[in-house]
Amino acid sequence: MTLYGSIREEILYAAGVLRGGGLVAFPTETVYGLGADAANERAVANIFTAKGRPADHPLIVHLAAADEIERWARDIPDSAWKLAERFWPGPLTLILKRAPGVLDAVTGGQDTIGLRVPDHPVALALLKAFGGGIAAPSANRFGRVSPTSAAHVIAEFGDAVDCVIDGGSCKVGLESTILDLSGEYPRVLRPGAVMPNVLTRVLGELLTVSAGGGPRAPGCLASHYAPDTPLQLIDATEIEAAAQSFLNFGQSVAVLSMHPPATNEVGCRWLMMPADPKEYGQVLYALLREIDTWDCHCALVELPPAKMEWEAVRDRLKRAAGGRQAERGCA
Ligand code: TXA
Ligand code: MG
Repeated sequence: MTLYGSIREEILYAAGVLRGGGLVAFPTETVYGLGADAANERAVANIFTAKGRPADHPLIVHLAAADEIERWARDIPDSAWKLAERFWPGPLTLILKRAPGVLDAVTGGQDTIGLRVPDHPVALALLKAFGGGIAAPSANRFGRVSPTSAAHVIAEFGDAVDCVIDGGSCKVGLESTILDLSGEYPRVLRPGAVMPNVLTRVLGELLTVSAGGGPRAPGCLASHYAPDTPLQLIDATEIEAAAQSFLNFGQSVAVLSMHPPATNEVGCRWLMMPADPKEYGQVLYALLREIDTWDCHCALVELPPAKMEWEAVRDRLKRAAGGRQAERGCA
């Protein structure tokens, strides 16, 4: 796709900001990223400062094309090339052994590196115009909900970012699948839009799924992706009664459910969520931000089915709920 007019000029300007060591927030198909030149130590350090992120949490380096892998990784297994060919550009991050010369600041001092080619015309145009790797975490402050629009990024950072490119709403809406290929067996560290069954088909071997365990991925911390409003996950059959009992105690409640309420008089904000997992993932983060503006005592969320296609949504919901429970000392 060719980008014309002012967006093209914005991209050229943003590439210049990156070359000068600045921070550029840009759209990807998953969420907005907060980017810096991955080869510039000072610029990468600025990402950590802006996000308030601990320095030992590694960043994903975004590339314009798979043939740039070798600049960043070594001992690249065949499986990485196969997966890159099948899923890039796309919402899959590969963890590989890092190449010599890659900054410690990018990898959090680890011997591995996360790489991905994003599937968004603006991100790809920026990468091409810049001509190098862009280190970019999600463009939110540490532990907060990832942004899926330029307005979210501006709400998070204001002037702390040199440039925000508005590429509209992200079509996936949840962060990429992270697949670790640096060990003996491939391991999914974070579920996302690329699901284990399709990875298995390409890899020709079964996968270990260990999302939630690894201290190496802050996206795997229980307190990640948390909105301000305390969030509780509840079965569909119990959600209305639960909402009612909060209301009986004079507390305001928001409900996110895939089903309408049985009665018309529930007395709380009832948000109908999409019954399709892709559509749900696309809107989830924007809705979590919106709920925060309602100032409710809590939000009750219907737990989606325990099926593979819902895994990424369930993972983010559990973390969003887990964060608050941990803060309140319940988990
Ligand atoms: O969809 C995405 O992946 C978005 C867009 C902007 O590309 N990025 C994103 O970045 O979600 P971030 O930093 O918010 O989450 C990346 C996750 C973190 O949990 C990080 O620890 C993990 O990837 N990660 C990065 N490098 C790693 C490595 N070498 N080993 C293990 N985990 C790694
Ligand atoms: Mg993040």
